[in-house]
Amino acid sequence: MVDPAAFRSEAVRKIRAEVPSRAIVAASGGVDSTVAAFLAHEALGDRVRSVFVDTGLLRAGEADAARELFGPTHVPLNVVDASARFLGALAGVTDPEEKRRRIGSTFIRLFEEEADRFGADRLVQGTIAPDWIESGGALRDTIKTHHNVGGIPADSRLTLVEPLRDLYKDEVRAVARALGIPGSERQPFPGPGLAVRVGGPVSAERVAVARVANRIVEEEVDKAVAEGHLARPWQYFAVLLPVRTVGVTGDNRVYGEAVSIRLVDSTDAMTAAAVPAPPTLLRRIAERVTRELHGKVTRVLYDVTDKPPATIEWE
Ligand code: XMP
Repeated sequence: MVDPAAFRSEAVRKIRAEVPSRAIVAASGGVDSTVAAFLAHEALGDRVRSVFVDTGLLRAGEADAARELFGPTHVPLNVVDASARFLGALAGVTDPEEKRRRIGSTFIRLFEEEADRFGADRLVQGTIAPDWIESGGALRDTIKTHHNVGGIPADSRLTLVEPLRDLYKDEVRAVARALGIPGSERQPFPGPGLAVRVGGPVSAERVAVARVANRIVEEEVDKAVAEGHLARPWQYFAVLLPVRTVGVTGDNRVYGEAVSIRLVDSTDAMTAAAVPAPPTLLRRIAERVTRELHGKVTRVLYDVTDKPPATIEWE
């Protein structure tokens, strides 16, 4: 386990050594990149600018959550709205790896533009160990090209600085706590966002459906945790499946889509166990998803697969 104080001073020293002029930090609103931004700011002061990209693939309330995480750190955050650009890049794409590549290169082009505006040539990222290990760094096979690893085009003008490269999630959380970054128990959210929670083609409409389903799962799990029916799982979310399925409301046939709910426990995301969710929680989620997404989602399933053999996200 990492010693947060020693890690902090060493990371600041390394960032200074790796950034001779100016840098931008890719902030996602998650713990990893917030810690990276904090350390970069401590190392570089006003030679660094934090950029948060609204990809249009975010969870409900994500930009606000990012502002909240950043608030107490006093690191300024710049929000760039690029939803149209990301949806355009994903049009017609169904392959998960191709989704990650397109998202990765759209991110990088945007960061290059921001870096040009700021006069920076370094990009600080919150990449952690499982990101590059699963992207083929240490395993025999590439499991998933995490968007912030394999998605970076070889011709990028930006040099990467990755202060958290050797840390696992629980270690990043320990560092976050030591730095006074709030909300460090927030569940992880994948960088490619809802694009990998929309099975099959990504459109604004299908992303909107996945966003509502994910919000419902978060609200209901939070409630079950608060009422003591469940220990907070490591990750809990919904996936819109590329499956049409018949439903009925009153006398009417509805040909909608299916949503799969996943609650998993893990310590480092390398392995995970499906949580035996309380039946009342699942019924409540199914009832809300089909009601609040009436006519769009006609069936709700529960995923009982561990990792391995499955991965945590569906794609
Ligand atoms: P998997 O699905 O590979 O996920 O078992 C392991 C952990 O990583 C998250 N995840 C990602 N995070 N970029 C990220 O930053 C990605 O492309 C990506 N894919 C999966 C996932 O949510 C889980 O916490």
